[in-house]
Amino acid sequence: MLGRPVVEELVRRGHDVRVLTRTPPSDPLPGAEHHEVDLVTGAGLDDALAGVDAVIEAANTPGTGRKATPVLVEGTRRLLQAEARAGVGHHVAISIVGIDAVPFSYYRAKLAQEQLVQEGPVAWSIVRATQFHQLLDWTFASTARAGFVPANGFAMAPVDPRFVARALVDAAQDGPGGRLAPVAGPQVVPVGQLARQWASARRRRRPALPLPLPRRARRALRAGGLVPAGDDVRSGGPSFGDWLRSDAQPRTAAVVAA
Ligand SMILES: NC(=O)c1ccc[n+]([C@@H]2O[C@H](COP(=O)([O-])OP(=O)(O)OC[C@H]3O[C@@H](n4cnc5c(N)ncnc54)[C@H](OP(=O)(O)O)[C@@H]3O)[C@@H](O)[C@H]2O)c1
Repeated sequence: MLGRPVVEELVRRGHDVRVLTRTPPSDPLPGAEHHEVDLVTGAGLDDALAGVDAVIEAANTPGTGRKATPVLVEGTRRLLQAEARAGVGHHVAISIVGIDAVPFSYYRAKLAQEQLVQEGPVAWSIVRATQFHQLLDWTFASTARAGFVPANGFAMAPVDPRFVARALVDAAQDGPGGRLAPVAGPQVVPVGQLARQWASARRRRRPALPLPLPRRARRALRAGGLVPAGDDVRSGGPSFGDWLRSDAQPRTAAVVAA
C-alpha cells in the first residue's frame, strides 16, 4: 500500500530510486530500478544498498506481533546493519500513531522497530501515520463477510497512503530529523460512521454491531488512542468518503492488522 506511492513520489521528484523487493514485478515501476532482497535472510541487501543516500523503509508483514517480528524487528535490524556497512546516511521509518497507547501485539512490534531505529547505527527520521484507507476498506469487507459492519464509537483519522508518501519523501529530502510530525487524514470520524460510509459506497447492507475488542484495547481506543494529538499534525489528502467515491484506489488482498 505505501511502497508504491513512495516510489511514485520519489520518481516524480526526480530522484534515482531503487525498489528493494522479494519479487521484482513483471511490470516494473517506471523510473525505478528493482533489486531482489529479503529482510528475513538479509539476501541481496549489501548489493542493493551500495551507493544509496537514504532508505525509506516501508516493509510489512501480515499478522500479529509474533508473526510481524521477523520482518519488522529482525528485518529492520538487518537492514540497519546493512545500511551502516554501505554508508547510507539516513533511515526514514514509517510507524503508527498510538502504538504506545493501544495494546495491540502488532503495535508492540512497531514499538520495538522504532526503538531499533532510534538506537541504531544510521541517522534517522520517524514518521507516524494513522490507518490507511485500504486497511479500513479491507476490515469492513471482512466484517461484512462475517455478516456485520462495526458500530464502535472510537475515533479514527484514516489517511490516503499517497499523502503519507509525500511526508516520507519530504523527510528523506530534509535529512535526519528524529521524530517528525504525525500524518493523518483530514477528518476525525467515529469508526461506526466510517463503516456506514463504506457500506453505502460498496452497496453492502449489513447490521451495525460493535467490533469485539479486549477491554484494555477498547478503553485505549475510546480515549482517542488512534488519533494524533497536538498542533503539529500534518493532516490532509482525501477523506475516506472521497477516497471511496474516487474509485481510483487499488483493492488489497492482504492487510496487516494495524
Ligand atoms: N496499513 C496501514 O494502515 C498502516 C498505517 C500506518 C503505518 N503503516 C506502516 O506502513 C508500513 C507499510 O505498510 P503497508 O500496509 O504499506 O504494507 P504492505 O502493503 O503489506 O506492503 C509491505 C511490503 O513489505 C514487503 N516485504 C514483506 N516481507 C518482506 C521481506 N522479507 N523482505 C523484503 N520486503 C518484504 C513486501 O514487498 P514484496 O512482496 O515486494 O517483497 C510488501 O509489499 C508498515 O511499517 C506499517 O506498519 C501501515
